[in-house]
Amino acid sequence: MSNDMNRDIERVLISEEQMKEIVAGLGSKITEDYKDKQLLMVSVLKGSLVFMADLMREIKIHCEIDFMSISSYKGLKTTGVVKIAKDLDLPLEGYDVLVVEDILDSGITLNYILKLLRSRNPKSIKICTLLDKPDNREVEIKADYFGAVIPDEFVVGYGLDYNEKYRNLPYLGTLKPSAIKGE
Ligand code: IMP
Ligand code: MG
Repeated sequence: MSNDMNRDIERVLISEEQMKEIVAGLGSKITEDYKDKQLLMVSVLKGSLVFMADLMREIKIHCEIDFMSISSYKGLKTTGVVKIAKDLDLPLEGYDVLVVEDILDSGITLNYILKLLRSRNPKSIKICTLLDKPDNREVEIKADYFGAVIPDEFVVGYGLDYNEKYRNLPYLGTLKPSAIKGE
């Protein structure tokens, strides 16, 4: 298979099985914490798509979902510039909003999203990120729920991309230098 993505992976950080356990654990915590609330899960596209799809099925109470898309990343490094490419469909008043992200890195993206969504008067707002890279933080921000803390390395898979590829890998890994071109 000349097109095999798996050949580009140097090291698996979180296997498919480990990922399932992590997501199930988060789902049961959220189920418990939101049992008397009006949960609205807000997915930040595209990176959180896979996580969102698995996480929502581990949540056993009523919930609604919405999507927004923001772009701040090109290749390996953040540009620091955040742009809304697609806004939410729902107004947030009355909802207990849970922002679902793939990774909390510099924190610039989530900080921006949080400020924006808070201004829309939700009943409450919390963050659930699959991955946390605390070493690279540029703005002070903490996730209310996180799946795993990872070192400051560029990772792909389970929704996370390198130049839009590798999102469909079912596990999380690092890329071989040979797969990273011209950066
Ligand atoms: P932040 O604004 O620096 O916190 O970056 C958040 C966004 O950058 C995430 O939603 C990802 O899309 C992207 N990102 C950060 N680190 C990685 C990585 O290691 N692999 C792939 N994407 C990443
Ligand atoms: Mg991304």
